[in-house]
Amino acid sequence: MDQPAAPQFRIGQGWDTHRLEAGRPLILGGITIPSNAGLTGHSDADVLFHAVTDALLGALALGDIGMHFPDSAPEWKGADSENFLRHAVDLITKEGYALANVDSTIILEQPKLKDFRAAIRDNVARVLGLPANRVGVKFKTAEKVGPVGEGRSCEAQAAVLLSRLKPGG
Ligand code: C5P
Ligand code: MG
Repeated sequence: MDQPAAPQFRIGQGWDTHRLEAGRPLILGGITIPSNAGLTGHSDADVLFHAVTDALLGALALGDIGMHFPDSAPEWKGADSENFLRHAVDLITKEGYALANVDSTIILEQPKLKDFRAAIRDNVARVLGLPANRVGVKFKTAEKVGPVGEGRSCEAQAAVLLSRLKPGG
């Protein structure tokens, strides 16, 4: 029986969270933000890069970041998460899709991130090979409620849209 044609568009979403710890660097979208606390994790704990990576993998039903980069693997200890995102971008190209746009939200009580919006957006766009006006970067506090609101953790969410490079198959 004939396979149905590959869809023209695919949507993906990703979410991640990491704990905040005093004395750690705060790296968001590859940009180091001045802060007295940063994120902990096996890699550099870049919660935004991880959420965007999962959104890309999810759009193509290719599992999640931990499947591709297990946190038990010594080679990923302290890893620059840009590598994870690049890997997901390569997979998308291999599957015959291009990235149309990305939207994202970082939820962090403090510090304020708005002065770093352009730097974060430009850096995410660079890694994705997109113009900056196709990368949304938003920030929210958690209104002092829950682990994020109490300053114990940071979350990121991302949505992506992929567009097929060639119509049909
Ligand atoms: O969470 P809330 O609605 O109070 O956030 C108000 C604004 O503060 C956001 O629209 C965002 O621009 C900014 N913000 C920020 N850094 C954060 C959280 C929010 O710059 N960590
Ligand atoms: Mg993570």
